[in-house]
Amino acid sequence: MCGIVGYIGDGQAQQILTNGLKKLEYRGYDSAGIAVYNGEEVQVCKSKGRIAVLEERLEHTPMEGSVGIGHTRWATHGRPSDENSHPHTDESGKFSVVHNGIIENYQELKQDLLDKGVIFTSETDTEVIVHLLADLYDGDIISTVQTAVSKMRGAYSLGVITEYEPDKLIAVRFASPLVIGLGERENFIGSDISAVLEYTRDFYILEDGEMAVITRSNVSLMKMDTNQAVQRDILRVDWDMVQTEKDGFETFMLKEIYEQPNAFRKTILNRIDSAGKNIVFEGLNLSAELIQDLDKIYIIGCGTAFHAGLVGKYVIEELTRIPVEVDVASEFRYRRPIITKKTLVIVVSQSGETADTLAALRESQRLGAKVLAITNAPGSSIARDADDVIATIAGPEIAVASTKAYSSQLIVFYLLGLYLAQVKDTILGDERKLMIEALCKLPEQAEAVLQRANDIQLYAESIKDRKSLFFMGRGIDYAVALEGSLKLKEISYIHSEAYAAGELKHGTLALIEEGTPVIALVTQTELYEKMVSNIKEVKARGAHVLGVTLEENIELHRVVDDVCLIPHTLPLFTPILSVLPLQLIAYYASRSLGNDVDKPRNLAKSVTVE
Ligand code: M6R
Repeated sequence: MCGIVGYIGDGQAQQILTNGLKKLEYRGYDSAGIAVYNGEEVQVCKSKGRIAVLEERLEHTPMEGSVGIGHTRWATHGRPSDENSHPHTDESGKFSVVHNGIIENYQELKQDLLDKGVIFTSETDTEVIVHLLADLYDGDIISTVQTAVSKMRGAYSLGVITEYEPDKLIAVRFASPLVIGLGERENFIGSDISAVLEYTRDFYILEDGEMAVITRSNVSLMKMDTNQAVQRDILRVDWDMVQTEKDGFETFMLKEIYEQPNAFRKTILNRIDSAGKNIVFEGLNLSAELIQDLDKIYIIGCGTAFHAGLVGKYVIEELTRIPVEVDVASEFRYRRPIITKKTLVIVVSQSGETADTLAALRESQRLGAKVLAITNAPGSSIARDADDVIATIAGPEIAVASTKAYSSQLIVFYLLGLYLAQVKDTILGDERKLMIEALCKLPEQAEAVLQRANDIQLYAESIKDRKSLFFMGRGIDYAVALEGSLKLKEISYIHSEAYAAGELKHGTLALIEEGTPVIALVTQTELYEKMVSNIKEVKARGAHVLGVTLEENIELHRVVDDVCLIPHTLPLFTPILSVLPLQLIAYYASRSLGNDVDKPRNLAKSVTVE
């Protein structure tokens, strides 16, 4: 999604802004631009395409100046083009705006401005904001922004500069994340911390409905509607910058795939007591009474986080016998969910900023549910709004395709399932101890799977030219099949579908023909025979089948064309290991097709619009 960066200080803004935009590239974008005040006027340089294109333009027309705003755009209103790129300026060129999110009533506002004779040069909703500022300017940019914002509806964040008051950078947040980086005689804004982490570790996180007036040496926070000053604690970030570099890997995605074993270790660490018998979640408010009384759990997320929730359902139902429903956030919020005081809602989000998940969280709270968030971003909107948070300790995930965040979410579901079972006493202490032992082995077993990447690479290259592919599995394997299919689609652009293996013959089997690749997940011993029958059904129609199965099922190779073995673990834990080859298949298929793996077309890392 769009990324905002801004600078005011003694340094050269151009370099700081373009560096910041590069750090936001992972969010997905289709154009980029910056505006810099050069002491006399604001100059703008923007272009469709990658930041490299913008940099090329800047080489010809460098910008001097130490106040500026920058933007990566992910098109919503109007196609990717130079004209639609941000920053946008008013007709006089005195005001410049960058914007993330959507102005829902922009048509209405635009009509008013058109009626006044304002000339628009883009198709965006953003342009309305800048003309509105120019129209309303009363000699004070703070009150002008406040008046303009009071006329706007939507979820958005803004960065504003004006030639009239070049000693100020204004930031506004309405449900779309924005942070303020604090430096020595310089300050920054960014859509997220990574944008300016290179320059500072100290941040204010702007909250919804707040505005920041930023000068070189001061930051004032205030409520938009009442003008009341806001006091905020400084957040000191201890992420190591190295964590956001590629560290010798060719892409962030590959690095993140290989970081999974350590992400599991960190996510498990300190959450098991010294006897290895009990789960401990320090700081969790969820009371034993509420857990005892729970009559239903909803798990809500989008995309990969939704898929993690599907695994979570199997885990929690199996360990606690509490009924679990899993919902896509954008559906949940509009389907009048049945929520009582005995309902727990678990929202899952890597970024903690996904607009639909955040809205589902708020709707659940409005209906009276307690909300527990599983997130990788402790300072995020979702983490702040939830009643309880369990963090995945996966470190920053930069590649658009989620890998280590997904598998760390699964680790949290295992820990949570065991914790709920412990409180409800639904599994025996000895059994829990055995499960905890098996859980603690997963990081090492994951390392073993990742060491076999070469074979997987060969398979991935063999499918790269196929038009379509199928994944199938039963039970918890079906949940993993869905994730494998999504991963392949999003980065290789090869069409694929995931099916509950028993469902194929109810329609999809018609699509299987000679050579159609099918990836069959066969990790559930109880369902082994059933899966073999389903594999035979597709083989009989000509499918080429790769079976992903446990080492003890080596004889599966008599039924399939290729086999990928994963180490033995408990049935509930196999997703952690079986998803790894699927991530690598997607990765290598995408690489061999020459795609930009970390930044797949049309997609964004953090989806902050509905
Ligand atoms: O940040 P979130 O976990 O809330 O993001 C949810 C989805 O947008 C995300 O998982 C998306 O599906 C990924 N690109 C999948 O790899």
